[in-house]
Amino acid sequence: MRKVKTALVGAGFIGPNHVEAARRLGFVEFVAIADRSEELAAAKAKSLNIPKAYGSIEALLDDPEVEIIHNCTPNEFHFPVAMAAIERGKHVISDKPLALNAADALKMVEAAAKKGVINALTFNYRFNPLIQQARVMVSRGDIGPIHYVHGQYLQDWLLFPTDYNWRLEKEGGASRCVADIGSHWCDLAGYVVGSRIDQVLADYTTVYPVRKKPKQARIAFAQASGAEEYVDYPIDTEDFASVLLRFENGARGAFSVSQVSAGHKNGLELEVNGGTGSLAWRQEEPNSLWIGRRTEPNAVMIKDPSLMDESVRGYAALPGGHGEAWADAFRNLMRNIYTFVSNGYSMETDRDKINFPTFADGLESNRIVEAITASAKAGGVWKKIER
Ligand SMILES: NC(=O)c1ccc[n+]([C@@H]2O[C@H](COP(=O)([O-])OP(=O)(O)OC[C@H]3O[C@@H](n4cnc5c(N)ncnc54)[C@H](O)[C@@H]3O)[C@@H](O)[C@H]2O)c1
Repeated sequence: MRKVKTALVGAGFIGPNHVEAARRLGFVEFVAIADRSEELAAAKAKSLNIPKAYGSIEALLDDPEVEIIHNCTPNEFHFPVAMAAIERGKHVISDKPLALNAADALKMVEAAAKKGVINALTFNYRFNPLIQQARVMVSRGDIGPIHYVHGQYLQDWLLFPTDYNWRLEKEGGASRCVADIGSHWCDLAGYVVGSRIDQVLADYTTVYPVRKKPKQARIAFAQASGAEEYVDYPIDTEDFASVLLRFENGARGAFSVSQVSAGHKNGLELEVNGGTGSLAWRQEEPNSLWIGRRTEPNAVMIKDPSLMDESVRGYAALPGGHGEAWADAFRNLMRNIYTFVSNGYSMETDRDKINFPTFADGLESNRIVEAITASAKAGGVWKKIER
């Protein structure tokens, strides 16, 4: 494998996880890091053992050694950072959501295509071994035609009014909970079922219309210390949402997302019901796939490469009984992206050679989130995804 020289932009919660996942491949070298200030970047570079630190994105993008960037900044910076990188001909791995709205996302898709840069989006849950297996089982008809797709993505990290994060601020976008975690659920549902969402109907609830914003900034998911000083901050985004779905293949769906459900940490769950069987997968117990049957006993498939379909066996790196989880799915995604980059593949001619989500998937997600939000704002009416 040709060694690929890469850089991290934004080293908060998810950034270092990108670094760890890509480093596990053995042919990716992180040469630089950028964050909000030189001090911050230098401290993060030291802790991650990355040689160069920049206090601005422009300085990092001007570094000729950098071939590709990981955009792990807060949502509002995804668009300007990616556009600046594309302008300089750098490949971009963006975390989700691709942009704050579908119009910006479309510009990103078009700019990347025009420059011919590799573009990827970290819909990482797709790369769990048993999600890959579920997708194959659905596509080969193991559970018959799909009629119902349902589930939830529940968290509790914003349960208290003193829980605070940039995601709550107006710059974070018109949707919060749906854009932040509903985007993952919708992507995963469409991926497993092999059909796009066509129409949505949503109800949004804001439990705390005013939150206590700490005067001192905190990174994502950090606990309030109790000793902080606060200011009141008005909130206009949803703490939880209930959404009905219609898929293009005729299947119906429903999901709940919440950031205020006590006891739920990263509770992403997906169930698919078909004419002859069901499949269900839970992110917090990713090594089991429940298989529901009416005419024979239900079963639980344990993640075991020897039992998985040959086409997706490579997504399980360890034998049965050796658990794999979130970080391993992230590594699988990075392996696919960086193999594409290292091989010198082109988005135009080689796209079908290696499986990873692109900016086009991010655009699709922005469109879905926008329609869900429009439905909720209109009082819960069906909205078609505008494409
Ligand atoms: N794929 C996933 O499962 C997943 C999980 C968590 C977060 N995310 C996404 O990753 C992104 C970052 O989320 P996070 O939880 O890591 O946030 P975070 O607040 O923990 O980290 C953001 C980092 O970006 C830096 N930053 C802020 N403004 C910057 C700027 N102008 N230039 C350079 N750096 C800047 C911050 O200092 C911080 O280091 C978000 O878009 C989020 O949606 C994805």
